[in-house]
Amino acid sequence: MDRYEQVIELAKRRGFLWNSFELYGGVAGFYDYGPLGCTLKRRIENMWREFYVINEGFMEIETPTIGIEDVFMASGHISGFSDPLCECLECGEAFRADHLVENHVELADALTNTELDNVIHDKDVTCPECGGNLGCAYEFNLMFKTGIGPGNGREGYMRPETAQGIFIDFQRLARYYREKLPFGATQIGKSFRNEISPRQGVIRLREFTQAEAEIFINPKHKKHPEFQKVADTLISICPSDCKEMGTAEKITVGQAVEDGIIAHEFLGYHIALTHSFLTGIGIRPDDLRFRQHKKDEMAHYAIDCWDAEIRTDRFGWIETVGIADRTDYDLKAHSKISKQDLSVYIEYDEPVISTRFAVKPDMGKIGPVFKGKAKQVAEALKDLDREDIDTGDDIKVVVDGDEVSVPRDMVNFTEETVKISGETVVPHVIEPSYGIDRILYCTMEHAFEEETVPVKERDESEESRTVLRFKPEIAPIQIAVLPLLTRNELITPAKKIVNSLKRKGLMVVYDDSGTIGRRYRRNDEIGTPYSITIDYQTLEDSTVTIRDRDSMKQIRSTMDGLEELLYGLIHG
Ligand code: GAP
Repeated sequence: MDRYEQVIELAKRRGFLWNSFELYGGVAGFYDYGPLGCTLKRRIENMWREFYVINEGFMEIETPTIGIEDVFMASGHISGFSDPLCECLECGEAFRADHLVENHVELADALTNTELDNVIHDKDVTCPECGGNLGCAYEFNLMFKTGIGPGNGREGYMRPETAQGIFIDFQRLARYYREKLPFGATQIGKSFRNEISPRQGVIRLREFTQAEAEIFINPKHKKHPEFQKVADTLISICPSDCKEMGTAEKITVGQAVEDGIIAHEFLGYHIALTHSFLTGIGIRPDDLRFRQHKKDEMAHYAIDCWDAEIRTDRFGWIETVGIADRTDYDLKAHSKISKQDLSVYIEYDEPVISTRFAVKPDMGKIGPVFKGKAKQVAEALKDLDREDIDTGDDIKVVVDGDEVSVPRDMVNFTEETVKISGETVVPHVIEPSYGIDRILYCTMEHAFEEETVPVKERDESEESRTVLRFKPEIAPIQIAVLPLLTRNELITPAKKIVNSLKRKGLMVVYDDSGTIGRRYRRNDEIGTPYSITIDYQTLEDSTVTIRDRDSMKQIRSTMDGLEELLYGLIHG
């Protein structure tokens, strides 16, 4: 069994992750979260909220998981959100064409469909399922299509990212934040992608959870006000021009921005924040790197993107978070399709004195020549800049799609001094986009350990134990309360402790079945950081033992103040 199999076996057995629709044979690309998985997921999401919603102040919103066609027309997902698909002509199985050839060529995901077809042909690539011949590669759109309303209702799509909901609400959000840049909004929710052949278990899903922040910034201000706080964060980094694909160097974020490796402070700030979030939930820093996208792998909306990649045993480095500079791509695209103004007015700290160039069309001359179109010609002339007028030749303007030549003597212009107190800008967007499911799996894999331990302290005999070394803040069960024996005199105080810990908001299990050793092992395996044992000494001096999952050491503590002590141990 490799590490992935070990983790998934434990995850299924102990109620973290289950194959969806198992009763009916299951379908690839869908997973259920069982009781412990669901709790772990919520804790990771809540930690994310602490970082982005509470600390950064990017308020959370919730928008529909179904989007209307206009949204995805504007965002570019209808035309551009696809993967190359190749079907077996014999068994009908579908594959990602780039995955079929990745053992034969480098950067298979950057090839065109014709290039993919050529490699498949030249290298005699056949169907991995039945060995049959493969058809031609074609683009397969990854969005799930649906209908809104009965009959010929509107076409809808399940959202492939939560981000679009935030862009659609831009005007409302701008008003909420009193049009002061930068501001940000977040959304945690399900996204849907009809992945062609999700054969990587929990890594590639058809329905998954994203936690995304869309941060709207003034494109002229790429200095982050809090950058100095994160500048010393040491990260492993692979810029797009690194010599060997993915060779990581260690560098501080501050140095990377100063050297121009990371383009600006906003990207640098969010790379550092991602590093601190992921290591904070237990990802090993040595198995985390930030890799910059090459130009040809960048999403259609981004000019720069850094992936937080986490090393796993079976899949190697996997992308878990994308930190992208989306520029004004989305707001401009939605503005164009919706015909709404998606800009904000930025007032300067001090008004700026400037000269303004103003074109004054001479209607007395324009009228008789351009007749019915005179007004439109005059309006088009007013939009011109100084360089357009200064050519010396006739002035060219476009009216109703046709180019029109206007003699220069029909136009006067003036320069006037004006006081400008602000300007209108379409904000740029910086987007940290987290895939919660992948992060959850990686957290489990990095926390998983099998080790040999003594059966009892000072005992020669040994046994193996499996332990999930979750950080106490994210462990699904925080405390196990275990009476040493199933006797009423021990059960009663144990249950009292359970109730007082619950009142403190801690997630507790009560467990009295099996030997105490077995109960410790059960709780080690699900990552419970502390176990409380009630024994006969408890009845004499009101003390209990607290056992630490990782060191397996036990200390005695009075029951008085036990809740505060444990709360402090878990929440730091
Ligand atoms: N809004 C930007 C965006 O969606 P992305 O890189 O396509 O960017 C962001 O997705 C994150 O979502 C990824 O880094 C990954 O963790 C997660 N993700 C994407 N596709 C996924 C899939 N099929 N299954 C599980 N997680 C996925």
